[in-house]
Amino acid sequence: MSEKPGEQSNRQRILITGAAGGVGTILRTGLAALGWPVRCLDLRIPDDAGDAGGPGVPGDAEWVVGDVTDEPTVLAAMADVGVVVHLAGIPKEDHFAAILHTNIDGTYQVFDAAVRAGVPRVLYASTNHVVGYYQRSAFADRPLGTVERTRPDTLYGVSKAFGEALGSYYHDRHGLQVACVRIGALLPEPRTRRMLDTWFSPADAVRLFHALATAPNLGYEIVYGVSANPTAWADPEPGRRLGYVPQDDSSVFAHRFAGLPVDPDDPEVRYLGGDFTTATPD
Ligand SMILES: NC(=O)c1ccc[n+]([C@@H]2O[C@H](COP(=O)([O-])OP(=O)(O)OC[C@H]3O[C@@H](n4cnc5c(N)ncnc54)[C@H](O)[C@@H]3O)[C@@H](O)[C@H]2O)c1
Repeated sequence: MSEKPGEQSNRQRILITGAAGGVGTILRTGLAALGWPVRCLDLRIPDDAGDAGGPGVPGDAEWVVGDVTDEPTVLAAMADVGVVVHLAGIPKEDHFAAILHTNIDGTYQVFDAAVRAGVPRVLYASTNHVVGYYQRSAFADRPLGTVERTRPDTLYGVSKAFGEALGSYYHDRHGLQVACVRIGALLPEPRTRRMLDTWFSPADAVRLFHALATAPNLGYEIVYGVSANPTAWADPEPGRRLGYVPQDDSSVFAHRFAGLPVDPDDPEVRYLGGDFTTATPD
């Protein structure tokens, strides 16, 4: 990132859906600190809504309380926006009716409204669970790219594969610039051994989304959202081509999981998606 935190710029406004959530909180504060004017859309305003800069201070975000499945709300939120970061959704396995409503209909509303509002670029929060049923052992010597067929491990993963396909359609049909980010484990620290592979540090997440928001000549891309983890199975090249230079890696946490027994039949060991392959709705 060439910009320094807090630096002023003439950036276009960025709209973040699902901005009150875990990923949204990382990106709305991190992108605002890089000078992006941020508008947030969520079902709720979080307690820390003003933390980016304080009321009236550059870096503070505007908030729209609304549902991404509500067409007029989403369309209105797109006014004067240059980039949409679409995060709003259910981030794990759920009943199909809920997935259909929020992840499938909601994502349709966001892509469609972006085109109708003339927003040029959408960055879509996909997930590594679109490829969760690949076996880990197949990628011991080579990375998994982004052109292989999807193998979702949940209905949640299926909904994200739908979002990737929807983005492809809106790109081909309407010229929308789209990047789908297959986000890994976006947490302060890896919580399991499997997350040593998929960890995506909060700072690297801001780096990647900033790179995608500013990349020249973006067409349609799928990239993996992971840090520079030595055990990563995800191909880093699609992100690197677009200017993403991760600066964190999970090796500093590896000692926490060293010496733990490894059962090759454990889904956490066997599949890229780990225990999502056995997940059921709460
Ligand atoms: N956290 C991760 O490591 C991770 C990994 C892969 C993908 N993702 C994706 O990133 C996105 C954000 O994940 P998260 O972990 O921050 O989840 P989260 O549950 O913390 O946040 C989701 C946010 O979306 C909002 N939301 C839900 N339904 C909505 C609706 N109908 N209209 C408006 N807002 C709505 C919620 O209020 C919440 O603030 C999700 O799409 C998820 O699938 C996250």
